[in-house]
Amino acid sequence: MAPILKDIHMAYNLLKGKKGIIFGALDEKSIAWRTALRCHEEGAQLVLSNAPVALRMGEINKLAETVHAPVIGADVTNMDDLKKLFEETMKHFDGGIDFILHSIGMSLNVRKGKHYTEMDYGFNQKTLDISAISLHRVLRMAWEMDALNYWGSVVALTYIAAQRVFPDYNEMADAKALLESVTRSFGYHYGVRKKVRVNTVSQSPTRTTAGSGVKGFDGFITYAEKMSPLGNADGDQCADFVVTLFSDFTKMVTMQNLFHDGGFSTTGVTESVITQMEK
Ligand SMILES: NC(=O)c1ccc[n+]([C@@H]2O[C@H](COP(=O)([O-])OP(=O)(O)OC[C@H]3O[C@@H](n4cnc5c(N)ncnc54)[C@H](O)[C@@H]3O)[C@@H](O)[C@H]2O)c1
Repeated sequence: MAPILKDIHMAYNLLKGKKGIIFGALDEKSIAWRTALRCHEEGAQLVLSNAPVALRMGEINKLAETVHAPVIGADVTNMDDLKKLFEETMKHFDGGIDFILHSIGMSLNVRKGKHYTEMDYGFNQKTLDISAISLHRVLRMAWEMDALNYWGSVVALTYIAAQRVFPDYNEMADAKALLESVTRSFGYHYGVRKKVRVNTVSQSPTRTTAGSGVKGFDGFITYAEKMSPLGNADGDQCADFVVTLFSDFTKMVTMQNLFHDGGFSTTGVTESVITQMEK
């Protein structure tokens, strides 16, 4: 059989004239990094943001150079930081914003090796704030400053552990469930007010810094690959999908959790997994 070409890359100018903020590009594996590259290829103008501690790594400057974007630091749990970010962004764009990517996650209990049944609630509050309430904070700041243009689009990254149990995902499962709920709740209000849509993309396990923090990640990613008719979706494919959600082709899609997972979420079992079990 001839090899199947996975990626013939073309640009379609899908985001020509659009302006957006991309949160969460830590290094070149980050889903936010891959998405920034694709948005740039599709003609968008960008502002990049990440936590001050992440900016100190310096990696993001390489991306900033490639996509010709300023980097503005903001800890997403700090409203003053977010205010400054939106003010500087609107000044840079000389007007409003068309899209926002929220690609942010962090679990303190996972980091500190705390099992779900022994969670530290102080850590848990921080996890929920960084990974879920931060979407509310970003949307609220945009709302108060009237920063998003009519028909704007906001996308946040999530994982299927919000709906089904993946024991080692720990408290992040709860954080993702809350993130998806904020997406619906704020999506309602922003839709009514400015036709702004808000959605989550539920991505396959992907080899990134945040992804690799999950215990047993290698086994996990191989299992997902075998359980998905199309295989796992990678970071570049996720970026392609997010570009469509920022484009004018998806204007009426809002308050949804959209699975970008090669079919994993609706597959009960595959021949590949059965074969493995019979070994
Ligand atoms: N990698 C996967 O397997 C996978 C699967 C599904 C969903 N996701 C989600 O995708 C998103 C992006 O993660 P990734 O896999 O690209 O990993 P990543 O580690 O590259 O990105 C996580 C980002 O969150 C940022 N961040 C953490 N705390 C912050 C704070 N207080 N303020 C601002 N930014 C902060 C980090 O600096 C980093 O850039 C996350 O929401 C993650 O849960 C990842």
